[in-house]
Amino acid sequence: MTYKFSNNMQSVTGLATREIFKLLSKPEIISFAGGLPANECLPTEAVARISNELLTSAEGKAILQYGTTEGIATLRTELVKYATSEGLKATDSELMVLSGGQQGIDLFIKAFCNKGDVVLVENPTFLAFLQVANSYGVRCIGVKSDDKGLDITDLEAKIKEHKPKALYVVPTFSNPTGKTYTAECRKAICEVTAKYGIMVLEDDPYSRLRWTGDRVPPLKAFDNTGNVVYVTSFSKLISPGLRVGFCIGEQEVIRKMTIGKQCADLHTSNLSQAIVREFLRGGLLEPHIKIALPIYQKRAKTMLDCLAEYMPKTFEYTKPEGGLFVWGEFKDKTNTVQKFEQAIANNVAYIQGQVFYADSGGLNTLRLNFSNADPEKIKQGVKALGKVFGK
Ligand SMILES: Cc1ncc(COP(=O)(O)O)c(C=O)c1O
Repeated sequence: MTYKFSNNMQSVTGLATREIFKLLSKPEIISFAGGLPANECLPTEAVARISNELLTSAEGKAILQYGTTEGIATLRTELVKYATSEGLKATDSELMVLSGGQQGIDLFIKAFCNKGDVVLVENPTFLAFLQVANSYGVRCIGVKSDDKGLDITDLEAKIKEHKPKALYVVPTFSNPTGKTYTAECRKAICEVTAKYGIMVLEDDPYSRLRWTGDRVPPLKAFDNTGNVVYVTSFSKLISPGLRVGFCIGEQEVIRKMTIGKQCADLHTSNLSQAIVREFLRGGLLEPHIKIALPIYQKRAKTMLDCLAEYMPKTFEYTKPEGGLFVWGEFKDKTNTVQKFEQAIANNVAYIQGQVFYADSGGLNTLRLNFSNADPEKIKQGVKALGKVFGK
């Protein structure tokens, strides 16, 4: 059979990161390639107990029935409270449950973009966003950034030049860079995008994973015109396998995204939603995050200390205050794509930074994840990287 796939899907390749995971089947490889929470932080016992209680309760049958697309009402009530504690204002109709943050990206593009439209992204940006945009025939154009966040002058210039539909940002502990935008940058992004009537998608799966430094309000908190849609997720806080996230936006926007979700999956798993609700309602989430943070902090510190010890002086890297990633950049002509095979031969894996660029730049960059290897493995892995990149 010769399959005649749609034009949209023909140009979409498998996620480079997913392809890399296939290479990692050798158990001796230490992988800094993924973006997984630590296995030690996955609350199997609590989830088992809650699931049992839920399914044997009066709500059991309703959980196994079809549910509403917006999400279980009692979860949404908890999410409104949670959002308020995060500095976000939302009424029940301005919030909807998602099957993970990734679905928020998909529904946002589906709601706002036509084939051929342009979306601006930070360069580098979250790889899966580039892929989802590609699957809708949407073109991504990179905007420059520095340690404070997006370059607002470049943002405005690109808005004038490309007339984009939207801007996509991960302003807190970004994937891939681990960087966080300042409050001033967030305010400026809201002002510039509102001035030109451009939608913004704020993707925020990592802000609760802060172990040091001062909290910065969400970008959405500076939104005075309703042009920002905020997406977050419990994947990195409770479990990615539950597939529960939520988004906040103006009622009209949420309505449109809800219709998009009806087409995609009808609703998020009721059982997963009810488990997250119990974490929120029963006060389990905050202590759970408190246990996870020192684990991540220790792993990040081990990685940073080892990078200082084993990597060459030409390698510069971010020192995140939270999240899951360190971003590195060689100041010489080191090509991380060419070096990848050698790294695998030395039993260590990273993601070549190039895949995160809208314009295939960043050949001298790489992303390292520190959350999914224990400190001993991190030491071994960075030592191996040092060998590959020749200190
Ligand atoms: C920036 C960013 N957005 C969205 C997601 C998707 O997460 P999920 O769909 O599991 O909530 C991820 C996952 O790694 C991410 O890093």
